[in-house]
Formats: sequence, C-alpha cells, structure tokens
Amino acid sequence: MNSYEKGGGAKPVLIFPGGMPRSLEFLERSLREGQAVIGASSLAHDTAREKYPAWLRLPFVTEPGFDAALKQAVSDYDVGAIFSPNPVVWDYLSRVLKVLMPGVGLLNDAPVERELSGYRAARAQALDMLAKPLPLASNVATRPSVAAPELAALFRHAEVIPGMCDHEKFCVLCEIARRCPGGDLVEIGSWWGKSAFILARLARCYGIGKLLCVDPWSNAHLVQNDQQGLVDRVSEQLDAEEALAVFEINLLPYNADHVNYLRLPSTEGALHYGARREVVTTAFGQTRYAGHIAILHIDGNHRYAAAKADLLAWGSFVVAGGWIVVDDYVWPYGDGPQRAGDEFLFENKERIDVAFVMGSALFIQLCAAL
Ligand SMILES: C[S@@+](CC[C@H](N)C(=O)[O-])C[C@H]1O[C@@H](n2cnc3c(N)ncnc32)[C@H](O)[C@@H]1O
Repeated sequence: MNSYEKGGGAKPVLIFPGGMPRSLEFLERSLREGQAVIGASSLAHDTAREKYPAWLRLPFVTEPGFDAALKQAVSDYDVGAIFSPNPVVWDYLSRVLKVLMPGVGLLNDAPVERELSGYRAARAQALDMLAKPLPLASNVATRPSVAAPELAALFRHAEVIPGMCDHEKFCVLCEIARRCPGGDLVEIGSWWGKSAFILARLARCYGIGKLLCVDPWSNAHLVQNDQQGLVDRVSEQLDAEEALAVFEINLLPYNADHVNYLRLPSTEGALHYGARREVVTTAFGQTRYAGHIAILHIDGNHRYAAAKADLLAWGSFVVAGGWIVVDDYVWPYGDGPQRAGDEFLFENKERIDVAFVMGSALFIQLCAAL
C-alpha cells in the first residue's frame, strides 16, 4: 500500500477520474478540510497525479478488469466513498457499487444534474418572469421584453459572478430597463462586477446606452464604519487590485464597445463625467458616453456622508423619466443609504414620479419630460 497521511478522521475518498476540473476542485477542498483522498486515473500518464497525496491507476471502466481492480483499491486503501464527476463513470458506479461494495457510496450527485441545475433554474426564472411580469407603474412607454433565452442567459451568467444582488432587485432592474429613456447607465460601486454585468446586458438587450462603472477599487474606500464592524472585518480580507482584475474578467466578454470604468471615488468620477465624454482604460479601450443618465445605480460606500455625496454628485445627470436605484436602502449594518435616499426623495419631490422599495433597494423614477 502507498504511504499517505489519513486526515480528518473520515475514511479516505477515492477521486476518479482524478484529473477532471471538478475532481481537482474537490481535491482542493478535501485537502483544506483534512479529508484523506486518493486520486485515480485510467490514463497511463495523467498530469494530475502530482497534485494528489496518493495515486493509483485503474483500468478504463469499459475494460473487463475494472470491477476487480476497483474492489482491490477500495480494500487496500480502506476507501469510504467515491467522488466521480464523469457522467459515464458515475452512472456505472451508481448501478454496480450496491452489488460490488455495498458499504461504499458515491459522494456526489449525478454530474449531469449538477452541471445543468444552474441552467435549469435560470430558464425557470426567465419563464416565470415572462409569465408574471411585475406590474410596474412608469411614465415611460414599456419596451417589449426580450425573449426567454436572453433572460435565461442574463440570470445564468449573473449567477456565476460573485457579489450581491438579491433576486427581487434583479427582477426590478430587468423591468425598469424596459421603461427608461435612452442614455448612459452609471454604476457607483462595482467591485467584482455582478450588478455591472446585469446592467451591461440590460443596456444591450434594450438598446439603452453605455455603462460606466465608477469605483476607486481601493481598500481604503471599503471602510464603512458599520455599527458593529461586521462588514469592515470582511472588507479587510478583500484585495482591491484583485477585485478590479475580477471585474475585468467578468465584464470584458460582454463588452460590445459599451462598457468602461473610471477608477475614481464617485465625486471625482462625477467631475470627469461632467467635463468630458470619453473614458479610456487599457482593458476596455475608449468609450464615448452620452453625458446624461438613464439609470443610475448607487452601490458605493454606505456611510451616510458617502451615500449623500453620491446622490448629490450624480443625481442631476439623470434625465426625465430616468431611474435612480439606491442599493441597500434596507441594510442591517447601518442607515446611510436610507437616510440619504429619504432626503433625496424629500428634496426632489417635484422631480419624482415613482418611488418604491423592492428587495433591499430603493427605486426612484424622475418625472417624464413635459
Ligand atoms: C457593495 S460593493 C459593490 C457591489 C457591486 N455593486 C455588486 O454587484 O456586487 C461597494 C463598492 O463601492 C465601492 N466604493 C467605495 N467607496 C466609493 C466611492 N467613494 N465611490 C465609488 N465607489 C466606492 C467599493 O470599492 C466597492 O467596490
């Protein structure tokens, strides 16, 4: 028997085939958690081998010696369970293990189910949205919704981008995008780019305009001074340089010459936006903006002074019939966005036609042009 350390107390898990991306993901997690694992492959030379603390070769599942070799390996290594992301191997094992080795089970669900569950959920969400459209009052004529595949793509691709955007807010963003004038979409606070991706896709789906993301991507600007320090503790574990790199990875594939960013705090970004139309970055090239805003999404620093400054600096660029979305209006860690949002509502009541809270965000539509 090979010598390897058995960790975590649980019986070792056999990962087969060991070189698939899901296998390597599982291996990494197991090693982190101290779970003993053994990798296996049917290839004569598998480059994944060196990543595993223990390794063995098994015949291909189609070969006559497979069952006996597997049984031997399970006994040699005292294997407790098997992880297999290969749909054919998984399906075969799900049938034969009960007979061959009744005490040894498959650790993972059917690979096809796992790979497709996110797509199925996205398609269901799209159909649901089309079947039950949000009855939204608006002063701008409603564009017809894009078809189910476009909506499903939006839900699915947003799902794989890390970040915060609750489902209710997501659905309302889809609806206001159908009911807004033309113009730029500006986001204050983009971080890894989840909501930026949603806005970028909606901008394309409904031909609204171009997306400008304004974010300093700096750790200093993450400090919220939230009441119990819970948010700031997590922020300290994040890296702003990495966040910008992740943002670019997430947005670049969807940029049809209509996405760019200013790496600036929002008030400085507003000065740039007010003074010139062009924004240039190495990653996205040059983008020319309209200079007026159809949708303003505010999700920057949530301290009261910062949220207030965002609304003051950017609110006047929003055109008649345009929308302002104040994220985290309902926020358990402080009341900055709520106070700033309420003050904006009060101070601008003559300009506002529609205002409501959905999910955690405040949505405001300015009056339409006379
Ligand atoms: C909650 S995150 C944004 C999350 C993002 N909208 C999403 O979809 O996951 C808050 C962001 O605000 C940014 N931020 C902080 N201070 C800012 C400021 N003064 N101007 C613009 N953005 C700011 C932070 O860098 C951070 O990226």
